[in-house]
Amino acid sequence: MIENLYKIPNHVAIIMDGNGRWAKRRGLERVYGHREGVKAVERAIKFARNVGIKYLTLFAFSTENWQRPQEEVNAIMSLLVEYINEKMPMLLENDIKLIFMGRKEGLWDNVLKAMEKGEKETAHCKSMTVVITLNYSGRAEIVDTVNRIIKSGVKQINEESFRNFLYNPDIPDPDLLIRTSGEKRISNFLLWQLAYTELYFTQTLWPDFDEEEFLKALYDYQSRERRFGKVLDE
Ligand code: FPP
Repeated sequence: MIENLYKIPNHVAIIMDGNGRWAKRRGLERVYGHREGVKAVERAIKFARNVGIKYLTLFAFSTENWQRPQEEVNAIMSLLVEYINEKMPMLLENDIKLIFMGRKEGLWDNVLKAMEKGEKETAHCKSMTVVITLNYSGRAEIVDTVNRIIKSGVKQINEESFRNFLYNPDIPDPDLLIRTSGEKRISNFLLWQLAYTELYFTQTLWPDFDEEEFLKALYDYQSRERRFGKVLDE
């Protein structure tokens, strides 16, 4: 156990930003940044598993990211497929369940197949859940949720019943959101789920995000007092 780490968030979500800048600073193509970013993904998953975080959600590709150059979109998709296929033994060894979240429409067949395989083969794992958001945006999720409610015929809704129509109602809301690379935005990430999440921003670019950086975010989280809109007893 790491020294003085006592309040482990149940669910950490990460906006993995700065791959492009990491590559540019080295005079490399953006794609190299994403490739290095995958190594940081691996480090983050293993670290989270070791400290006992139960859910780790990673923002891999947003609905807006389709607007990037075709070559870059291809590279990110290929990295994802490669990652799912190559890392299956690591996920199984560590008892990690893989879940994908986002719109399936528009995703290529090979990507859908890899996602399906990843989810199926890890479905029995219980120690940690890694959620990869792909072709995801928070507003799209809310719109899809409302459409599902209309389709179901339900006439009235409250916050709890609304939740049941979200993409993954069983996943608890994130306790901590980390965004790398210095930007201080939510960027259409889990809009419904982040209502009471603690936010942590770091200048570190995603490919440089390592165990030490993750730990810094956890220490910072540990110092926060979460009141959920209430007044806490003295
Ligand atoms: C943000 O950096 C990064 C992305 C949009 C892609 C993230 C994808 C990966 C790390 C690869 C695959 C993921 C998994 C889960 C295996 P940016 O390109 O926006 O950087 P910039 O802001 O510096 O341009």
